[in-house]
Amino acid sequence: MSHKISDLWNSLSDELFARVDDDFVDNFRTPGGANNRLAAWDPFDATMRYYKFILFEAARHRPESFYDLYRRLGDTSVGNPVSVKVKSLDINLDYLFSVDEFLFLDSAMDTRSVDTVIEIGAGFGRTCHALTRLLPHLDSYTIIDLPQLLKLSRAVLTRTVPDQMNKISFVDATDENAWRGIESDLVINIDSFQEIPPETIDKYYESVIRNAGAFYIKNPIGKYTPDSVGVGTAAGNPARLQDVFSLGYCRDVIDIFDEDALLPARAAFVSAYAPGDDWRAAAQAPMELVPYYHNTLYLRTT
Ligand SMILES: C[S@@+](CC[C@H](N)C(=O)[O-])C[C@H]1O[C@@H](n2cnc3c(N)ncnc32)[C@H](O)[C@@H]1O
Repeated sequence: MSHKISDLWNSLSDELFARVDDDFVDNFRTPGGANNRLAAWDPFDATMRYYKFILFEAARHRPESFYDLYRRLGDTSVGNPVSVKVKSLDINLDYLFSVDEFLFLDSAMDTRSVDTVIEIGAGFGRTCHALTRLLPHLDSYTIIDLPQLLKLSRAVLTRTVPDQMNKISFVDATDENAWRGIESDLVINIDSFQEIPPETIDKYYESVIRNAGAFYIKNPIGKYTPDSVGVGTAAGNPARLQDVFSLGYCRDVIDIFDEDALLPARAAFVSAYAPGDDWRAAAQAPMELVPYYHNTLYLRTT
């Protein structure tokens, strides 16, 4: 059975992630680097000032528990990201998201009971890094991703959590037999289903998510037009834009800067990604910095 990948990720993995070697890993999170396709947007505006002010403001206004958790992550600087300094910690946006995501999860479920995790679409592995450090009883963490990105997450995790590598498995998403039927306490999808064809997401529900006890998703609640963020439509690639509009379960075009538009789209998101009738949305919250992304934790009821 062939595994359908979006045109977007076909070309990204071929062009941008074709050579994941040491030089690539040294610098892929530098401004202008390939990481702008993964965890964080590219800091380039005319300068980095705009980006750094947003990051600095966010880093200065986290709950007190955030800083202790962040410190426990250890080295968050692989790939050479931009950071700001708060409470003597070098904080970057990727791992600020990771600690926020952990805090959401921890407020919604007993994270001490999580032994096994599967993550679909892990990027460079920041969530795996964070959870192997923050979940006290974790036995295994399985990443399902495209081969080129597995090479990247393996390389990064080897540097960031070398002592945890015996718990981490890397599974090729394109080999569906390798993941069909696998089970875990918790399945995670962050910022990936929005870039995956709906029929492929269906397979992840059938073969992975519905086997789990809990499912945590953080993804966009809709699509937006390039002009709403100041990009002229003519400047974009129309075929790629069409591809992006066909991906994920939440494909309505919304004004992501209109709170009235976000409210119904959030409700539609929670319903669209529910794994089934025997699941409930135990907790949900908009992402703080980028409120057209929504966090939801679903728990099995039976
Ligand atoms: C925008 S990145 C997000 C990465 C990560 N979750 C984060 O937030 O840092 C999207 C991820 O989805 C992965 N992906 C794309 N198509 C996929 C597929 N069909 N199956 C599994 N992962 C896929 C990409 O390789 C990439 O790792």
